[in-house]
Amino acid sequence: MDNKTPAVKMRNITKTFGPVVANDKVWLDIYRGEILALLGENGSGKTTLMNMLSGIYFPDEGTISIDGKDVVIRSPKDAFSLGIGMIHQHFKLVDVLTAAENIVLGLEGKLDLKAAAEKIRAICDAYGFEVDPDQKIYDMSVSQKQTVEIVKVLYRGADILILDEPTAVLTPQETDKLFAVLRNMRDDGKAIVIITHKMHEVEALSDRVAILRHGQFIGDMPTKRTNAQEMTNMMVGHAVTLNIERPVPVDPKPRIEVKGLTVRNIEGVVKLDSVSFTANSGEILGIAGISGSGQKELLEAIAGLQPVEAGSIEYIEDDGSREELIGKDPLSIAEMGVTLSFVPEDRLGMGLVGNMDLSDNMMLRSFRKGRSLFTDRRSPKTLAETVVRELEVSTPSVSTPVRRLSGGNVQKVLVGREIAAAPKVLLTAYAVRGLDINSSYTIYDLINRQKAEGVAVIYVGEDLDVLLELADRILVLCGGKVSGIVPGRGAKKRDVGMMMTKLGGNG
Ligand SMILES: Nc1ncnc2c1ncn2[C@@H]1O[C@H](COP(=O)(O)OP(=O)(O)O)[C@@H](O)[C@H]1O
Ligand SMILES: [Mg+2]
Repeated sequence: MDNKTPAVKMRNITKTFGPVVANDKVWLDIYRGEILALLGENGSGKTTLMNMLSGIYFPDEGTISIDGKDVVIRSPKDAFSLGIGMIHQHFKLVDVLTAAENIVLGLEGKLDLKAAAEKIRAICDAYGFEVDPDQKIYDMSVSQKQTVEIVKVLYRGADILILDEPTAVLTPQETDKLFAVLRNMRDDGKAIVIITHKMHEVEALSDRVAILRHGQFIGDMPTKRTNAQEMTNMMVGHAVTLNIERPVPVDPKPRIEVKGLTVRNIEGVVKLDSVSFTANSGEILGIAGISGSGQKELLEAIAGLQPVEAGSIEYIEDDGSREELIGKDPLSIAEMGVTLSFVPEDRLGMGLVGNMDLSDNMMLRSFRKGRSLFTDRRSPKTLAETVVRELEVSTPSVSTPVRRLSGGNVQKVLVGREIAAAPKVLLTAYAVRGLDINSSYTIYDLINRQKAEGVAVIYVGEDLDVLLELADRILVLCGGKVSGIVPGRGAKKRDVGMMMTKLGGNG
């Protein structure tokens, strides 16, 4: 295959939004038969650059050529006719329609759903997808919806595919499946661009990396000739330490004791089945499990947000006295110093008002959770300023409306607020979802500082590598049951992975 002429050649691309220079004279080559990882911190201009290929934005300056010919891309339709398709971070599917209906939506000509279904099946067979053309979108998991988006793009004949943070919403198993499909497409001669913050994914999948920093092109190189450390340094612009610390817990004492906890969802399905464990002060208890194994229900039960069928959850004071949390309302539990921070799969689904500024959004969220801890202890403005400083949130000020911040920065503010305020027990789920590597390490550092101050941290994460480095102990959930509790130090990824799927569990 001809790998010499780039499928896409972008030269001197500049794009500004008012005073923000999102892309600054960027150049980029994309080749067929290659998977390119486009890297950069949150807000470095990756999405903007790719949106100019997919016809969402039009560059202020610069040229784009496809297969050596200069082109003008004024709309997504123009992009499709050039074979460019983009899978966005936020899906654009119609919930009440089926997969097939969504895929053919907007196409010209006679609508033949039967023929469409056949073509969809052929695409699925060719690359190893699983899509039921007749399934309604509202019945699908996030991963299935993403598959529909990809098939939709292929159906329109795309051979240059751009995926914007596709794995941010996937479990490790779903990610593996997606990567197998992407490799098939690469081997089939398609050009693939993937945006991701996960270094091990970059190393496992991509052939080449290109790095943006503050809207500028910093460099590109074959993935084999670089490593996570070098890529991170290039993204951030200075040397970054990539080790997660695991200080030995100082004087750990039982803080939360859970016994025989059983929870059913509204359909009556058992989500937690006789779960028992102790969380200690000054310790990070990591919760591992494939998505939907009961992680959410566990944290919500402790926070008082989940009806419990059986069992007990005791809060243990410094003097050893115990208090049952089940039956207490979320506000009382929060006032005892138990705080919950939960980043949903779709991180834009968080309760935010775009037109309100950072400070006001902080207040809003604490009220939504039924809490007033922050509002009476310190002003939301002081808190917002602390979080912005600690987490290096890029915003002109805390009075900037949230809608002007990039998604990653908004998330830092929300997660940071919970962490910064955690007094006794910190329940946190998916804290670094969608965050760039530097911000993620800032969060790990903050969590470790909480631990050093004696907070009992219960950390639900989807990155097993991180759990193995960060957690003092790892509790593995499988189908709502505890399949084991292992020390973080010395735990093997493979063993924990098997416990997650019950293959090698000891429970
Ligand atoms: N529609 C927009 N209006 C105003 N500013 C924007 C818009 N889209 C992106 N930006 C800004 O441009 C910069 C680059 O954003 P983006 O391309 O989304 O970064 P990345 O995808 O690398 O996280 C950020 O400062 C962001 O706030
Ligand atoms: Mg982006």
